[in-house]
Amino acid sequence: MERGREEGMETLPISKAFTLLEPGPVILVATHDGHKDNVMTISWTMVLDFSASFAITTGPWNYSYAALENTRECVIALPTVDLIDTIVGIGTCSGKDTDKFATFGLTRVPANHVRAPLIGECLANIECRVVDIVERHNIIVLAGVAAYYDKARKEKKTIHAVGDGTFIVDGRRINRREMMRSKLPEGL
Ligand SMILES: Cc1cc2nc3c(=O)[nH]c(=O)nc-3n(C[C@H](O)[C@H](O)[C@H](O)COP(=O)(O)O)c2cc1C
Repeated sequence: MERGREEGMETLPISKAFTLLEPGPVILVATHDGHKDNVMTISWTMVLDFSASFAITTGPWNYSYAALENTRECVIALPTVDLIDTIVGIGTCSGKDTDKFATFGLTRVPANHVRAPLIGECLANIECRVVDIVERHNIIVLAGVAAYYDKARKEKKTIHAVGDGTFIVDGRRINRREMMRSKLPEGL
């Protein structure tokens, strides 16, 4: 008998293991390639440190990639659960043949440091520069240069992609600030 069975551990196909490590919130990545704006959906993200380093996973099969590679800049926009169909819609068509800002009725807000626009409908936006591309793993490393948060926005729940077409919505927030004090950067 396979190990673990007796303890109630059913075998899970290894191809599904990644769905257990639920990533951070689904984000939108806006780019400007010198001619037009575009936006894509990304669920594979990673925070690299406390300053403002992030990584996203994408590659040349997406239209956005050339803009990321050539302009070395983008905007990370944080959509909330009320935008779920927009988020999935943006991630299931391509800027190659679709003006996604028009199709999904997104409001462009000019950014301060990059040519890609901020997205008015989103809860938060981060202007980023591309600082590294790890081609072997399709990882793009970003440095955040400016961030904006819409405090007045009523809906603040972000969504998390499981990876099988289902999503988890933020739940209640639990406070363990005191326990974690020694691990938190100053001012947080
Ligand atoms: C929920 C969701 C999450 C996605 N996450 C990623 C991702 O992490 N990396 C990626 O390369 N594509 C991801 N995609 C697919 C791209 O968003 C999709 O290929 C999109 O059409 C690319 O747009 P573009 O061709 O205009 O760049 C995701 C799509 C959806 C719907």
